[in-house]
Amino acid sequence: MSHAEDYEGTRRDFIYYATAGAGAVVTGAAVWPLVNQMNPSADVQALASIRVDVSGVAEGTQLTVKWQGKPVFIRHRTEAEITEARAVAPDGLIDPLNRNANRPGLEATDENRALDEAGRWLVMMGVCTHLGCVPLGNGAGEFHGWFCPCHGSHYDTSGRIRKGPAPENLPVPVAAFIDDTLIQLG
Ligand code: FES
Repeated sequence: MSHAEDYEGTRRDFIYYATAGAGAVVTGAAVWPLVNQMNPSADVQALASIRVDVSGVAEGTQLTVKWQGKPVFIRHRTEAEITEARAVAPDGLIDPLNRNANRPGLEATDENRALDEAGRWLVMMGVCTHLGCVPLGNGAGEFHGWFCPCHGSHYDTSGRIRKGPAPENLPVPVAAFIDDTLIQLG
């Protein structure tokens, strides 16, 4: 199997990613019990909305959770990542929109994409906007954010597409902190 084929198929990519990120495995274990505790009649709700405990996600690492059948990246960014993301003017970007379901239609500043005001947390669908592969994270690519190896799309530390065939920034789903350590998706 060639290197390119190795990355084909989102299912395979997700498995690859989840096992490659230590944070995903360790903290991932804390995610599912919350869902499992819901009573069976809440199955549909569990799909629509999940709560993720991010207390174990150290700065400079990210957690990947599966929500509605897709990976979601929850990254606890470093100061350097935030500074790099906020130094970018949205005008010259490939996709000038923030693609944030919480505040749609705004320009693609990092402030309009991050979950909290200080920008420590970034939550995005882990699905490349080109053809749907799962990008690699933890500083990957030329812009130190995420890199999709399928066809070479580079995303910056705010998840904005900066180089390659992907047309849009990684989408930010409906998400909010419901207390100091719990993020609700949906
Ligand atoms: S699917 Fe990501 S670059 Fe093509």
